[in-house]
Amino acid sequence: MTCPAPVHIPTKDLFRLDGRTIFVSGGAGALGTTVGKAILESGGDVLFSDMSLPNVDTWREIEKTSTANRTKAFYYQLNATEADHFPKSFDTIRNMLRFPLRGLVACAGISGECDACDYPVDVFRKIVDVNLMGTFLIARAVAKEMHTANVTGSMVLVASMSGWVANKGINTAPYNASKSAIHQLTRSLAAEWGHPQNTFPGRTPGDANPNPDEERKPYPPIRVNSLSPGHIETPITDAAKQRGLQEHWEKQNMLGRISQPEEYRAPTLFLLAEGSSFMTGADLRVDGGHCAW
Ligand SMILES: NC(=O)c1ccc[n+]([C@@H]2O[C@H](COP(=O)([O-])OP(=O)(O)OC[C@H]3O[C@@H](n4cnc5c(N)ncnc54)[C@H](O)[C@@H]3O)[C@@H](O)[C@H]2O)c1
Repeated sequence: MTCPAPVHIPTKDLFRLDGRTIFVSGGAGALGTTVGKAILESGGDVLFSDMSLPNVDTWREIEKTSTANRTKAFYYQLNATEADHFPKSFDTIRNMLRFPLRGLVACAGISGECDACDYPVDVFRKIVDVNLMGTFLIARAVAKEMHTANVTGSMVLVASMSGWVANKGINTAPYNASKSAIHQLTRSLAAEWGHPQNTFPGRTPGDANPNPDEERKPYPPIRVNSLSPGHIETPITDAAKQRGLQEHWEKQNMLGRISQPEEYRAPTLFLLAEGSSFMTGADLRVDGGHCAW
């Protein structure tokens, strides 16, 4: 199933998200909160989700933003690594929402610094589990929900420039590997969900394929892109700041400073909304030129 090009949308509305709900995982964090508010300001309702509860003052701000823009903010507590149960919970959540889920910003992520030779295996696994498996499980649950509602959608999987280059001055092998994996997960999911009938008919039987003869159903396309931020000033980078690393990072990009969470509002809105209607399977790198230097 393909969708016609949205050529008649006025230019001023290319970033609008009216009449849809966007799922923001990691929605209690710095980036999730900031882009979530931007979505509320652009006409979309937001289902914030995180394993932690949002800070009371932050949630008050979010409610103020939604009231001022006649949009709605919801909160759902969920550990991304357990999101396989999520489609079931959706039966309850769906009734609260005004509009179908048509977007995802997958922000939930963790990092951890250790030299590779000493990296505890359980911590390495946890980082990959949250950043890669958690992102996949959330994306899949949201895709299934979009398929059930028979709607088009757009997903933004938050990766990092650390998926393109190793971080200078800080040893974070599992984080970097997990973010590189997000780039490839993006391409793979974009290929599957953009136009499902593109796939060769039939499937080879195997453990992952218990029903190889089942026909694939056609669904409206879901676009999937990743967003790769450079260094952002958030609580995650606080410790590095105290060690003087921020000064080094500032010198490593072409703009001579690190970024603020607000600078990812427009890139996220662009990827979610019709402005990027012909963009899928791509990575949008927003890093002050760090990787180009
Ligand atoms: N801060 C940076 O410099 C930077 C740079 C590039 C990319 N990123 C990426 O941006 C995203 C957001 O980062 P941030 O700076 O806002 O960090 P943050 O710590 O403020 O937010 C991350 C959120 O993810 C949540 N989370 C962690 N594990 C979870 C799980 N298992 N299930 C559900 N929620 C979980 C946390 O509770 C937190 O609220 C992350 O994916 C991060 O890797 C950050």
